[in-house]
Amino acid sequence: MKLVLLGPPGAGKGTLAALLHKSLKVLHISTGDILREEIKNNTPIGIEAKSYIDKGALVPDELVIKLIENRLTSNKEFSNGYLLDGFPRTRKQAENLDEILKKIGQPFDCAVYMDSSLPLIIKRLSGRRVCRNCGATYHITNRPSKKDGICDQCSGELYQRPDDNEETIRNRMDVYLQSTRPIVDYYKAQGKLMQVDGNKESEELHDLLLKTFDAERKSYKY
Ligand code: AP5
Repeated sequence: MKLVLLGPPGAGKGTLAALLHKSLKVLHISTGDILREEIKNNTPIGIEAKSYIDKGALVPDELVIKLIENRLTSNKEFSNGYLLDGFPRTRKQAENLDEILKKIGQPFDCAVYMDSSLPLIIKRLSGRRVCRNCGATYHITNRPSKKDGICDQCSGELYQRPDDNEETIRNRMDVYLQSTRPIVDYYKAQGKLMQVDGNKESEELHDLLLKTFDAERKSYKY
């Protein structure tokens, strides 16, 4: 499967992507993760990106498009497909993505749009904890780690993302509504959109998607 995951911050894109990556063995490409890695390594891209991410603003299109283009054109691991998480986020990124995927002959099958409500988003993001080492995601009440502050998978230290405070979450939501939400209509017009309820449990959504993809495959759509 070749998928794009769309949705507001905190809709559960990363959590669902981790489940789909495991079950479908698809390549998972998250622009948020790539940018945070650049920040961690203190690269010129990371230094530039940090000033935007800390405010909850979008990193400039040119920079993110280049990053994705490099990843998609240099990676040949498409045998099981790919999953784009957090990209595209603007109309310009969506149009560039269409061109890049056409160039490499790997158009995506479906854009999964996960909608979610603001109060739930604030609750999810303000309680999110991430492993500094392997990037696994937890929630202090919904999905707590077995040992407080320690990752179940690798025993790494859990931390709170600096952009997961209420003020920045509200900015990210405003930016999402203004710049990213219109892409939903862009993909709807292309007949590539599948809307799911982001308020549901990730495991439930994962099972629902697998059943839908299977049925679609049987009807020779993918
Ligand atoms: P990014 O890292 O992509 O952040 P985001 O889109 O804001 O999404 P999040 O990672 O915050 O949320 P998510 O939907 O993945 O939720 P998660 O599964 O973790 O981007 C960060 C920044 O980078 C952006 O603000 C921007 O500045 C920049 N950037 C990235 N891509 C860019 C681009 N293309 N262009 C320009 N700039 C870009 O879940 C959240 C929490 O809720 C977790 O604690 C989880 O355990 C819990 N949870 C999730 N799902 C459920 C559920 N179903 N039930 C209960 N709890 C749940």
